[in-house]
This record gives sequence, structure tokens and C-alpha cells, in this order.
Amino acid sequence: MKKVEFLPALISTNAMVDAQHKELIEAINKLYAAIDEGKGVEEAKKTLEFLAQYTIFHFGGEEALMQAQQYPLYTEHKKAHDAFVVTVKGLFQVLTEKGATEEFGALVEKEVTNWLINHIQGMDIRMTDWIKIKSNGMMDNML
Ligand code: FEO
Repeated sequence: MKKVEFLPALISTNAMVDAQHKELIEAINKLYAAIDEGKGVEEAKKTLEFLAQYTIFHFGGEEALMQAQQYPLYTEHKKAHDAFVVTVKGLFQVLTEKGATEEFGALVEKEVTNWLINHIQGMDIRMTDWIKIKSNGMMDNML
């Protein structure tokens, strides 16, 4: 599977958020490696478990940041996070049923990798830009 890279287009205005996104991408790559190297379902489950746990940790951090800043799009951003957590949970069942196969890998690519890239480039960067501009006292026409 093609390794995911933390490309410049994913860099936001918040170093903590970026560091956590890099960690998430690394977790996806470890899951890909477990699939590609034929390490089996149990090893793939361990990497998926880390990805699931770290996702919850990361979302919690962003949500606390948004609440602290009274970010106006908090509710829709949290809704997207909650839906993704459900998606990742559902992958455990698929992994059990289909095994750590190419088919499972393709599903991870579609439902995890593509979702995350789109989410970072959309909602996350909009949020960090807003917070940065708010902290500089220039709020007009930001949303
Ligand atoms: Fe980086 Fe909104 O998740």
C-alpha cells in the first residue's frame, strides 16, 4: 500500500495539532505495513487499536482547544469526529471477518486515510486559522 506522507498541504497554524496529525499518519502507515507484510489479523488489530486510541486522544485535544476558544463551528466539527470514531470502531469487525487482506487495506485507505486528509485540509485548517486570527484580534470575514 502506498505510504501516507505528511505533505506541506497538511500543515496548519498549530504545532500541537500538526504533531498529532503526523502521529496519526504514522499509525496508518503501521497498519498498512502490518497488512502488506502479512503479519496477520492479531498484529493488524494491535495497530488498529493504537490508531483508534490515538484518534480519540487527538480529537479530545482539538475539541478542548475549540471550546476554550469558543470556536463557532465546534458542533459540526465534533460531529465529524464522532462519526469517524464510529467508522474506525467498525473496522475491527471488518478486520475479523475479512482478515488483514488487500480488501481490508483498500477500505482503510478509503474510510480512514482519505477521510483524515480531507478533514485536515478542510475543518482542521479552517479551525486553526480561525484560532490564530482570533488570537491576533482580526476576526472579520473568517468563516
Ligand atoms: Fe485533526 Fe479535527 O481532527
